[in-house]
Amino acid sequence: MADLLQAYRQACAQRARQDRLRRLPGRDAGLRADFSHNDYLSLSQHPQVIHAAQEAAARWGAGATGSRLLSGDYGLLADFETEIARSKGSEAALIYVSGYQANATALSALLDAKILGAAPQVFADRLNHASLHHACQLAGVRQQRYRHCDLDHLETLLLQSDANAPKFIVSETVFGMDGDRVDVTALAALAQRYDALLYLDDAHATGIFGPQGYGLGNAHPNTVVMGTFSKAIGASGAYLACSQTIADYLVNHSTGFIYSTTPAPAAIAAARAAWQLLPTLNETRAQLLRTAADVRARLQAAGYDTGASDTHILPVILGDDGKTLALRDALLARGIKVSAIRPPTVPPNGARLRIALAASHTQAQIDALLEGFGA
Ligand SMILES: Cc1ncc(COP(=O)(O)O)c(C=O)c1O
Repeated sequence: MADLLQAYRQACAQRARQDRLRRLPGRDAGLRADFSHNDYLSLSQHPQVIHAAQEAAARWGAGATGSRLLSGDYGLLADFETEIARSKGSEAALIYVSGYQANATALSALLDAKILGAAPQVFADRLNHASLHHACQLAGVRQQRYRHCDLDHLETLLLQSDANAPKFIVSETVFGMDGDRVDVTALAALAQRYDALLYLDDAHATGIFGPQGYGLGNAHPNTVVMGTFSKAIGASGAYLACSQTIADYLVNHSTGFIYSTTPAPAAIAAARAAWQLLPTLNETRAQLLRTAADVRARLQAAGYDTGASDTHILPVILGDDGKTLALRDALLARGIKVSAIRPPTVPPNGARLRIALAASHTQAQIDALLEGFGA
């Protein structure tokens, strides 16, 4: 046991030497503005969303207390899934406890070589979220990673692939650490041309982009879209929008769906209330994106590298870990909270401050942010 603990201690010490030791921060008191969270539409604080959560807890209890397959639906899930499928234009939808769990255990189930009858080939954007990598690891699949959002590179890899192998293309729609977007229409066309299943992670687009804010991932029998309730929806949990065949398969093969307690009623009721509000928030979305464009232009004018961001997520790419931490701390000293993101979450030399803009940020808070950057 001592050796084992020593190994873990050394792993943390190694991180500390690289200036990359993660520690759980406390709540920052006296903040002037918080740009570190993903409550992009501020729906976690919306009275209707909070009320829905309170009512659901009062009616069904604090927890779901059993798994969906064994204990059934407490009265919200199936209706909400029907609404999600209608909003996404898909045949079916399935609700999961979290986006991480949905990605890791739905995608890995879809990649099962025994079921497919052959080893699948997976083409994945280099900057995909950790949960998508985890799914491939779980399935024992080696990914072919194409350059970020580079669909020519993806097509080169597809052209070299085994024509008979089952193929999967996996991508985020809006990239969470870069704030840029892949061309979903072109990606879907490639998937169709090469007869691949397209798996899209719509986590950061949900609520902000697409018709009525329902995301960028489009319904198609060969497309699976995952969206979380944990970001712009302001609650927790996640959905998969897919064909009925895939939903039926996942209910039988996705371990995270089968062997996990159903999401709590309050979380799902809150998510559903927020989901129903999305079509009313067109102006809020437009304003958020206008503000983002302004902030981006000011940061760029001050000489900062904001990468290819064209959304409400603004990376300020500094490259060096130490510089990134120093600027984060300097901002925090002014009461401005932004996240410092370092490798391995981003590629080597890609350390950055991640600014997540939200509808509730006031002009005074935005001004304070820009002042902190000297922009
Ligand atoms: C792109 C992406 N996918 C999936 C997830 C996981 O979602 P959840 O927070 O619901 O587990 C996240 C959240 O960090 C994310 O950024």
